[in-house]
Amino acid sequence: MKKDMFQGAKIISTGSSIPYAKVSNEQISSVVETSDEWIFTRTGIKERRLLTQYGQSIVELASEASIKAIEQISMDPKNIDLLILATSSPNDLFGSASKIQYVIGATNALAFDLTAACSGFVVSLVTAFQFIRNGSYKNILIIGADVLSKWVDWSDRSTCILFGDAAGAVILQSCDVSFNSILNFHLKTDGKYANYLSIAYKENFDPHPVLKLYQGSFQYISMNGKEVYKFAVSQVPLSILTCLHQANLSIKDVDWLLLHQANERILMAVADKLSISSDKIISNLGQYGNTSAASIPLALHEAVQVHRIVANDIVVIAGFGAGLTWGSVVLRW
Ligand code: ACO
Repeated sequence: MKKDMFQGAKIISTGSSIPYAKVSNEQISSVVETSDEWIFTRTGIKERRLLTQYGQSIVELASEASIKAIEQISMDPKNIDLLILATSSPNDLFGSASKIQYVIGATNALAFDLTAACSGFVVSLVTAFQFIRNGSYKNILIIGADVLSKWVDWSDRSTCILFGDAAGAVILQSCDVSFNSILNFHLKTDGKYANYLSIAYKENFDPHPVLKLYQGSFQYISMNGKEVYKFAVSQVPLSILTCLHQANLSIKDVDWLLLHQANERILMAVADKLSISSDKIISNLGQYGNTSAASIPLALHEAVQVHRIVANDIVVIAGFGAGLTWGSVVLRW
């Protein structure tokens, strides 16, 4: 570990990856009793991408997003010191980060998974920032990736309409503290409501005949949509206000509001509570649905690519979801 203290951190590159298969609301309507009109008016979603190729997993999507971010700045992957994979849908419960580390050739990087559902990218960004701030690492690859299509009950119309698969990646690099772009963060968890959103592990009724221990398997996603909605709309604005206030900033300073892409109505309600004009909201829900940990880095990558987000913009990102866990980060781009 290096001895330099209090380094700044900057996002120097972004990348993303989406599966090839595009599935519209009309197609979903042939699977469960629903309609394009119901889905669009309740969620803002028109279509989503689903990982349909046999044998493919989060590893391919996350690796592709990472390679794009690395190639964009012609970085040697061997210079990456740490790789954090934010996901709730690894293809191995021991973690998928190490497989990605191998695929992309980041042979000098420590790699681990971080599970915080739809807040995973925000929590990972803050985690990475700590390693940079204390001088431990210089270059960190942060990936948000989920393939919740593998964990959705495709006969449950209350959840299957919402989710899509994707990956997004950013490279966070240390810099002089005067150029630091992570101005503040605010993170919270309330485990009392963990059952509002879960992919629960369920034990079999009968124990092992000799050892008398119980084994089981993971279930499909279950969600209390109304409670999740109320939680997001009440807690996310508070988190953002706290975060801005502590950074001596106000709503007027915000150029872009980039929330976890869960539901267009949540995005609008949060912006409304904060009195932020809707043209400052970044949204790509219509095309991708809720891509969980991938949604923020995917939308960030797109907004940067088309020069919507430009140097010195104040960008507020906020994640919320299972846990329940939520939080915000204020960035100066
Ligand atoms: N198509 C047609 N009808 C449906 C569908 C569907 N896909 N799903 C539910 N309905 C029906 C219900 O059966 C119910 O019918 P009933 O009145 O006859 O009982 C009616 O529509 C209303 O159902 P609600 O669940 O009350 O619908 P609501 O208006 O709350 O909208 C939604 C549901 C869109 C899920 C909303 O609650 C929501 O957005 N919640 C937030 C969920 C969310 O964002 N989750 C992810 C965030 S966290 C994370 O990203 C992991």
